[in-house]
Amino acid sequence: MKPVLVLYASTHGHTARIATRIAETLERAGVPSEVRRAGPETDPVPADYAAVVVGASIHAGHHQREIVSWARRHATSLGTVPSALFSVSLSAADDTDEARATTRKYIDDFVEATGWTPRRTISLAGSLQYREYDFFTRLLIRMMMRRGGHPTDSSQDYEFTDWDAVERFGRQVAELLPAAAAAS
Ligand SMILES: Cc1cc2nc3c(=O)[nH]c(=O)nc-3n(C[C@H](O)[C@H](O)[C@H](O)COP(=O)(O)O)c2cc1C
Repeated sequence: MKPVLVLYASTHGHTARIATRIAETLERAGVPSEVRRAGPETDPVPADYAAVVVGASIHAGHHQREIVSWARRHATSLGTVPSALFSVSLSAADDTDEARATTRKYIDDFVEATGWTPRRTISLAGSLQYREYDFFTRLLIRMMMRRGGHPTDSSQDYEFTDWDAVERFGRQVAELLPAAAAAS
């Protein structure tokens, strides 16, 4: 059986952790998987995999450029395998209609920019990693968080991710595979 590719972009490491958890969930469902980070030296071909999961996080309203351009380049091939997209942001931590519209737009923008329509999509809440930010990023994020009524104590990190939702998403990806669907 070909593995499932979990390809991600991550600026501060949280999306990498989510990608790893999705791969672990797939493995537990009996589906081999390969986690790779998008970048100039990484150019996997979707058709070499049983399915593809793409993940990226939002910074200043946009997903990382390297993964958008990978998905755009491979949009045709991506359309031939089961595929899924997860988008990580802090907006996804807010339970408001406005935040839901924002996270929906992040995914719509990804689809529009790449020409690839994933079969499954999910917006996942990320984390605030104050301790990893440089001085100016910390200042900027604290200002943004204060405006939104979110934590501003930069001596610690804050995680908002619903890990049960991450694992559910991993199982949904496993169900996209014909063999897994037939076995279940
Ligand atoms: C400089 C910066 C800008 C960000 N901009 C946004 C944003 O515009 N919208 C949003 O919902 N989250 C925003 N976030 C939150 C990130 O999406 C969140 O921290 C995510 O967990 C980062 O994942 P990563 O560690 O994989 O990069 C921003 C975070 C940073 C550090």
